[in-house]
Amino acid sequence: MIKKHRKVLLVGDGAVGSSFAFSLLQNCGIDELVIVDLQKEHAEGDSLDLEDLTPMMTPAQIRTGEYSDAADADIVVITAGVPRKPGETRLDLVNKNTKILESIVTPVVDSGFNGIFVVSANPVDILTALTQHISGFPKNKVIGTGTSLDSARLQVALSKEFDVNTGEVDAYILGEHGDSSFAAYDEATIAGKPLLSLPNVDLDRLAQIEDDVKKKGGAIISRKGATFYGVAVCLMKICRAILMDENLVLPISAPVNGQYGLEDGYIGSPAVINGSGIRQVIEVNLTDEETVKMHESARKMNEVLLAAE
Ligand code: 2OP
Repeated sequence: MIKKHRKVLLVGDGAVGSSFAFSLLQNCGIDELVIVDLQKEHAEGDSLDLEDLTPMMTPAQIRTGEYSDAADADIVVITAGVPRKPGETRLDLVNKNTKILESIVTPVVDSGFNGIFVVSANPVDILTALTQHISGFPKNKVIGTGTSLDSARLQVALSKEFDVNTGEVDAYILGEHGDSSFAAYDEATIAGKPLLSLPNVDLDRLAQIEDDVKKKGGAIISRKGATFYGVAVCLMKICRAILMDENLVLPISAPVNGQYGLEDGYIGSPAVINGSGIRQVIEVNLTDEETVKMHESARKMNEVLLAAE
């Protein structure tokens, strides 16, 4: 079921939002993009700038608008929120960004929006769970970018380490998109071969890579103040999978319902994404040690969620 008039409403036109819009227009064949941002003049400038792409890409209509424009949108993408400052963790942002989230989700739902929410603002797993809670939408209709970016970073690092194309690396970071995430090395493959069975695999080196991947967002922020291209393309891929009904498997903030022994909440896990949103959460067969890490990650997020104002 390929949709006829594809409409996306973007909330938040900062670096992540505008990079996402740039990628969306080049890759998703959309018909209409509406940008909502408190800084209206900047958003207007951005929509004028972005519409100059359309003769060369896709003949989409691009404009600024209001939450009421969500009424007939297929997807509402939420990037709005306070970004991390150098030294801040993603979980530090929870109270500030929860308030912003409430002020977005409520009017979007009031507009009669009946599509799919896609969230990238941090802490993304918690804000995705809150979006679902505030909206009352079915869980499969609320998706967060989760560990898609972290997993891409792991693919990059392993491809450099083993000197292969990134497409040859199949490896996930699971858990919170944050400090308690972990590399599921036991299930990772390079060119179809289990990573841990490769000759001379160096476990200390893999631990170092995992640590570097976890710190990569912070390393980028300390140099250029923000990260945006990677997560922007993760957002685009999720939107394209919805709009084109792709059945794409990506590690996202996925709603668990018994998977990994977790009863509730959103956490980074692969899932199948198509026109209906999350078609299915795919439970990776974790080792006992990895299961402990998954539970610890979920526990840490729950603690923050319960303490949130
Ligand atoms: C990142 O990991 C800041 O969460 C963002 O790049």
